[in-house]
Amino acid sequence: MIDTVSDAILRELSNLVEAQTGLHFPKGRWSDLARGMNLAARDLGFEITEPSIQSLLASPLKREQIEIIASHLTVGETYFFREKRSFEVLEEHILPELIHARKNNDRRIRIWSAGCCTGEEPYSIALLISKLIPDWKNWNITILATDINPRFLKKASDGLYSEWSFRETSSLIKEKYFSKTRDNRFEILPSIKKMVHFSYLNLAEDSCPSLLNDTNAMDVIFCRNVLMYFSPERAKKVVRNFHRSIVDGGWLIVSPSEASQVLYPQFVTVNFPGAILYKKDSSSPGRTHDLFAPSDIELRNPQSAIQFEFVDKQKLDLVSRNDGTGTPIVEAEGDCKPGLEPHQYEELLALYEHGSYDQAEEKSIGLLSAHGDDAKLIALLARVYANQGKLAEACEWCKRAISLDKLNPTYRYLLATILQEQGQLDAARDSLKHALYLDQNSVLIHFALGNLAHRQEKHAEARKHFQNALGLLGSYRQDEILPESDGLTTGRLKEIIRLTT
Ligand SMILES: C[S@@+](CC[C@H](N)C(=O)[O-])C[C@H]1O[C@@H](n2cnc3c(N)ncnc32)[C@H](O)[C@@H]1O
Repeated sequence: MIDTVSDAILRELSNLVEAQTGLHFPKGRWSDLARGMNLAARDLGFEITEPSIQSLLASPLKREQIEIIASHLTVGETYFFREKRSFEVLEEHILPELIHARKNNDRRIRIWSAGCCTGEEPYSIALLISKLIPDWKNWNITILATDINPRFLKKASDGLYSEWSFRETSSLIKEKYFSKTRDNRFEILPSIKKMVHFSYLNLAEDSCPSLLNDTNAMDVIFCRNVLMYFSPERAKKVVRNFHRSIVDGGWLIVSPSEASQVLYPQFVTVNFPGAILYKKDSSSPGRTHDLFAPSDIELRNPQSAIQFEFVDKQKLDLVSRNDGTGTPIVEAEGDCKPGLEPHQYEELLALYEHGSYDQAEEKSIGLLSAHGDDAKLIALLARVYANQGKLAEACEWCKRAISLDKLNPTYRYLLATILQEQGQLDAARDSLKHALYLDQNSVLIHFALGNLAHRQEKHAEARKHFQNALGLLGSYRQDEILPESDGLTTGRLKEIIRLTT
């Protein structure tokens, strides 16, 4: 038993758990840590003794070990329409605004439930969307639902619930959207189930926004009852990432008990009666805005990419005017404008990485007019637009980068992800095939083709691409970071493929 272990070891253990899962166990919660670790030890196949913990601490944890530990230390408390004021605000304010703004253009809405647990939260969102947008099948709706605990994710994708999950839900909802099983459980309708995409994501480790996990350009992020288990420093880091993942005007929704005056400085605080939400407004960060008199709001705890991956290749000798992509080409040949200095590009990249998309856009346009066309710069501008959810602009600029550098597979890969987000799956596939033709050994292109085929329910094709990706991964070290992948390691990608198939 872990009670036999010294405080020094427990401290190290809590540091390790914090570093790898974000879960914070200060001294006052070491008994919870000990309880969870006692259970985890059984699954990990070792006795809890000082030497066995020391050997666990000696090297970085493997993915399976993190999953097992996380599954015993995370709290699986959730139910449909929990903290219902947040859902009312979503239904009455956020979704109607989004629908109004998007219905005559790209008909696109992107919502992420981060720390989705067993699925009640993202399915509640899906139910509201299907209610407010009767023709939602003609929209490009993304509901991404992620969690660190694979057992929760499995239950979520099974979509089977007991009465207890409906403890604050009207029976009308249960009758309309669920079918009763023989063992008195309730199965969510397949059409609603299909609206939600579940995937493993560790908020403490995995990068966001990132192309690979589809966490860019979100209109709304729900991250409720998750950050309360993180240390304030870790929570701030996650919130910074969320800020970059959310489009301008988009929302971060946390639990009322996670409302804080210090945790979300990048966001505008918007007080609704009974709910405090955080809005990204690049023109005025850090403001507070009362939509209604917030007298009834009590703060329980007032203290408390795709970042599109970056391309490093430049093959400007391939400039062509007649590129066939239909995009404008700025004069490059015979143009005596001075070339871009590396530091100018680095500064731009820093703005992009910091999520200062407006400034990055302004600066890129300035650099383009001063220095003429530059494929690398243009591809970065395409990413800036893509991360803001401005997909038409992103697409146009990306095609322009391709026209300048036709043999660069990464630009075709970028175009594919933009097309995919626009819902143009066949065009995205063509672009990926083209990219693969240019670089047959790209793990990421095979992986993206596998994901796309999976999404199109072409399962045999998906398997083939995932197999190819796994085969190529064989030549990398387990902890090696894959090129152009936002820091993704070989081991992690193998894991993602395993969880997808
Ligand atoms: C209490 S549940 C909240 C579920 C839901 N958001 C709600 O409010 O009803 C907390 C969830 O956060 C997940 N979680 C904890 N640490 C995480 C991490 N580092 N990355 C992703 N999810 C995490 C847990 O596995 C658990 O499912």
